[in-house]
Amino acid sequence: MASTIFTNIRILVNTRAESPLLYGKALAHLPCIENAWLLVEDDTIAGYGPMEEMPSKYSSVKEVVDAKGCLVLPAWCDSHTHIVFAGSRENEFVDKIRGLSYAEIAARGGGILNSAGKLRDASEDELFSQAWRRLEEISKQGTGAVEIKSGYGLTVESELKMLRVIRKLREKSPLSIKATFLGAHTYPPEFKENHQGYIDQIINEMLPAIAKEKLADYIDVFCETGFFSEEETANICRAGITYGLKPKIHANQLNLSGGTQVGVAMGAISVDHLETMDDYAIKTLAASKTIGTLLPAAAFFLRMKFQPARELIDAGCAIALASDFNPGSSPSGNMNLVLAMSCIQMRMLPEEAINAATLNGAHAMELGQELGSITIGKKANLILTRTVPSIAYLPYAFGSPLVDRVMIAGNWLS
Ligand code: NIG
Ligand code: FE
Repeated sequence: MASTIFTNIRILVNTRAESPLLYGKALAHLPCIENAWLLVEDDTIAGYGPMEEMPSKYSSVKEVVDAKGCLVLPAWCDSHTHIVFAGSRENEFVDKIRGLSYAEIAARGGGILNSAGKLRDASEDELFSQAWRRLEEISKQGTGAVEIKSGYGLTVESELKMLRVIRKLREKSPLSIKATFLGAHTYPPEFKENHQGYIDQIINEMLPAIAKEKLADYIDVFCETGFFSEEETANICRAGITYGLKPKIHANQLNLSGGTQVGVAMGAISVDHLETMDDYAIKTLAASKTIGTLLPAAAFFLRMKFQPARELIDAGCAIALASDFNPGSSPSGNMNLVLAMSCIQMRMLPEEAINAATLNGAHAMELGQELGSITIGKKANLILTRTVPSIAYLPYAFGSPLVDRVMIAGNWLS
């Protein structure tokens, strides 16, 4: 049996016997052990505790890692990305610097449609190799589980192509991967004047084909002014649910879209973005089991007001943090930066941010019992940091490469 023991860990972070979804105040409680040991057997966390209680029989394991001065954390669980895309959109980035808004770029046929055009021209192999490089990049930065959406296809054929690429990533990568069908990302040019026609295609053609090949775990809709209305979102979610796909929704990004209320009414696993919230949306979310997934990198990149994390947490919501890695609103999947932004710009405490990026992120992919904390029997997806003085140092020293090594399913990434 391949086994690794970590000794002298300065702080072993997020040690838990149970793995509940964390709501409101519970997010600020991050259980840790100082001067700890941790045993990994095969791909699983097999034991941990304070150094003075380390059983001596573990001294003969294959690999001993002296983690003196370092932290060990559960790897990041990034529950919202769009990493299957073709090329990049830095031309629009420059347009935004010159003054155009995200909505104005989209209205000109840029934005999501720009990526959809590029994706339709790319082969499955080309898309796979681009997405693979992004997976390698984020895993080296400490991400061990990731949700990936379709939504740059916008035709039956291209949406299936994207979802097959995600399936192949899942087959070949050691990371835990969940797939989300986001056909309702925007309207393709051929349905510009016939929105219901495209929704019918999503419901009557795309969903049955996706279900037949079991290509998706979740259904997503961009519920937003100029994109999909509350009613359209509800109809698409209902159709997805009949095929066994639970909703995870793009909600309240640019406007008070009603997406949070629809998501909650549909029993969504999560409503994501939440830059633009009012009291009613916050109260609705707080009274539900739906997770609010905050994407501060998108707010940062689009120069928008950050998500009201404090109000959401104080109201009692379950909050997760994710990167939104995509070519238009967050061309980075670096969860270390997401952590820093959430503390610096949204006033989340480092403990809250770490819980939101690990255990609650795992719950936002229904992996809360397998990942997201240091718990016996969970998969050994771990971050070993460089020498750092404290937990708060991680978001404080933003931009410093503090992740030294990453272990995925018991194996070190090279
Ligand atoms: O989550 N808001 C909608 N979708 C993506 C952006 C997609 C794009 O611009 O390519 C997001 O921000
Ligand atoms: Fe997104």
